[in-house]
Amino acid sequence: MTTLFQKYGGFSTVSKVVLDFYDKVLDSDTVGPFFDDIDMRRQIDHQTKFIAQVMGGPASYSNDVLQRVHAGLRIDRAAFNEVAGLLEGTLQQHGIEPEDIAAIMQEIHGRAHIIITSD
Ligand code: HEM
Repeated sequence: MTTLFQKYGGFSTVSKVVLDFYDKVLDSDTVGPFFDDIDMRRQIDHQTKFIAQVMGGPASYSNDVLQRVHAGLRIDRAAFNEVAGLLEGTLQQHGIEPEDIAAIMQEIHGRAHIIITSD
């Protein structure tokens, strides 16, 4: 079985998607400031591994780690939806097919409860 990670060209594609994604995130007035003090090279590296993983590629990011890094950031549903929407738009721009985007976004939305810590 071919994974989405293989189908779309592996890390070279995922890296481009994640770079474009964070351009949009940093441009946002609402969610951009969350990343003011964050080392973006490290962030992009980690997010690349995570997106690769949800596309069926290597690396393993446990939900525990994901919960720990977002704990205390007071991320609410609106911030989550904005970031998720920016990721979805970036996947569209990179020519990922709609049903594959839906599968990726299902993985992302399935983790909302561990990322959202504020209402
Ligand atoms: C949409 C789903 C999201 C996913 C899949 C996701 C994934 C990740 C990953 C993989 C990391 C790197 C963890 C590490 O350093 O090992 C991270 C860190 C981070 N995320 Fe998210 N994230 C999401 C939503 C958000 C939202 C909505 C915000 C804020 C508006 C946010 C803010 C941050 C910040 C500030 C860090 C850096 C934490 C630090 O290094 O201290 N994330 N995220």
